[in-house]
Amino acid sequence: MKRVSRAALKKSPLVLLGLFVFVFALWAQKKDEPPAAENKIPPEAAAKQNTVKPTAESLAKGKKLYGYDCAMCHGKDGDGKGEMASDIKNVTDFTNPEALKNHTDGELFYVIRHGKGEMPPEGDRAKDDDIWHLLNYVRSLAKK
Ligand code: HEC
Repeated sequence: MKRVSRAALKKSPLVLLGLFVFVFALWAQKKDEPPAAENKIPPEAAAKQNTVKPTAESLAKGKKLYGYDCAMCHGKDGDGKGEMASDIKNVTDFTNPEALKNHTDGELFYVIRHGKGEMPPEGDRAKDDDIWHLLNYVRSLAKK
């Protein structure tokens, strides 16, 4: 009895070391992975076409929704300086004409629907048309 337990005791540091190496390897692997799937927009989503024209009516609807769901971060005027922006870095400034220039409508639709980084998703609370109204409005904020 005594011999067995002593042998087990002798082995335990090795077992612990093995476990540590294993956990460390897992952790190191995790760190190499890209942060979540947030930046991966499926190509078919990026190619999605805006089906809502940026009419005055669409912009008015977008502005209303923006006031409820977006202004606290992106700012009342879209400058990225909403009340919550002090806690979150890199809130996109929509008044900067460069900000959304290189993004397709489909990509931004996807971001508004699913969120990105620290931006929460609209999820199912918005209909497709509402997201297009929001996008039309947000694009209209770029300074000429
Ligand atoms: C909690 C704060 C927060 C709220 C609320 C929020 N956003 Fe954002 N938004 C962000 C942040 C932070 C980014 C930058 C994300 C990044 O690039 O990692 C961003 C980026 C964006 C972008 C640019 C995406 C890109 O790929 O460059 C668009 C468009 C956008 N938001 C639209 C909206 C709309 C529309 C709403 C309201 C429905 C909204 N956001 C609500 C924080 C927020």
